[in-house]
Amino acid sequence: MKKSIILATAMLLAASIAAPAGASDINKGRAAYTKHCASCHGSNGKPTMAGAADFSRGQGLMKSDKDLVKRIERGNRACPAYRGILSEQRILDVIAYTRTLM
Ligand code: HEC
Repeated sequence: MKKSIILATAMLLAASIAAPAGASDINKGRAAYTKHCASCHGSNGKPTMAGAADFSRGQGLMKSDKDLVKRIERGNRACPAYRGILSEQRILDVIAYTRTLM
């Protein structure tokens, strides 16, 4: 038990060292997605709110990361604006995570 915790910590550390500065962090993206987006878009990308984009089908994601950041910062009708709530880096992390849900 203790050994596996040490191993997991070592692996996490190795992963964080290996990630180049500025690269998206899917784990941070998952945490932020779960906190801020899952209530409408669903924990696995299948929306729980009628009309919300279905990320499990890639809905709303067929754009560049740059365009998606702008869109998420600005909001869109029932989709809240996240400027000032999530940093640009964190939004990029969330986008990287949503791209894994397809
Ligand atoms: C209160 C519910 C709600 C929350 C919370 C929410 N969304 Fe949405 N989202 C929606 C709805 C509804 C739409 C469809 C908007 C429309 O087209 O009218 C949508 C659409 C989108 C789209 C497709 C955009 C487009 O215009 O093509 C993206 C991308 C998106 N949301 C990202 C996010 C992200 C990332 C988060 C969390 C940081 C989030 N949303 C949180 C309700 C929500």
